[in-house]
Amino acid sequence: MERLQKVIAASGLCSRRKAEGLIVDGRVKVNGVTIHELGYKVKKGDQIEVDDELIQRENKVYYVMNKPKKTICTLNDEKDRTTVVSLIDCPERIYPVGRLDYDTSGVLILTNDGEFANNIIHPRFHLPKTYDVLIDGILNTDQIKLMEKGIPLDDGMTLPAKVRIRNKDFAHKKTKFDLTIMEGRNHQVKRMVEYFGYQVTSLHRKSIGFLKVDDMSQGDYRLLKPQEVKDLRRMANEGQKR
Ligand code: URA
Repeated sequence: MERLQKVIAASGLCSRRKAEGLIVDGRVKVNGVTIHELGYKVKKGDQIEVDDELIQRENKVYYVMNKPKKTICTLNDEKDRTTVVSLIDCPERIYPVGRLDYDTSGVLILTNDGEFANNIIHPRFHLPKTYDVLIDGILNTDQIKLMEKGIPLDDGMTLPAKVRIRNKDFAHKKTKFDLTIMEGRNHQVKRMVEYFGYQVTSLHRKSIGFLKVDDMSQGDYRLLKPQEVKDLRRMANEGQKR
């Protein structure tokens, strides 16, 4: 069951706010009956009419993509850069769940299910996200310990992260490591690294929970299986209790 205004907005007709206005103005019918109540809930199969025109209810779809570098996660770009949404051939109005930077590649979920998206990205739902990080310096033991404890960023302490060093290249002053964080703050990995005076030179998200894109080329995408959607929802909810 979903709120009537949410279903009208999801059909693409108008915003949720405008849909509320339509309901209050008596312009919406469910199964032939005019509804004035804003909290009214509709179920699958209910026929919704606005000004006596039947609206098409949108199917919920869930994709995972291996986001290529040089693509953006916003829906439009004033600089005309390629958006991730434009790479997916589907009729539904999908959007990315959270953001990866222009120069970051890797696991990205896209959907038209707002509630699901919110569960995955909301800070109180702690779903582990692992990044493959390359930086222009040598990460020392104290710095690793601090990442694992929490770093005081300007928007607060980070939750304890996990660090797995993959390679320290002393000759070229580079460290390659896996970093698992439980949050998804803006530019979080870059800011954690900048805290030590280093820069991220390459960033790839390897996984969100169990979801990986190892077998997909950059730019490839696929529909999530219903069980994967279910498991992601469950993991996000379990993370909430942490
Ligand atoms: N952290 C960042 O700094 N950038 C990303 O794209 C993802 C996480």
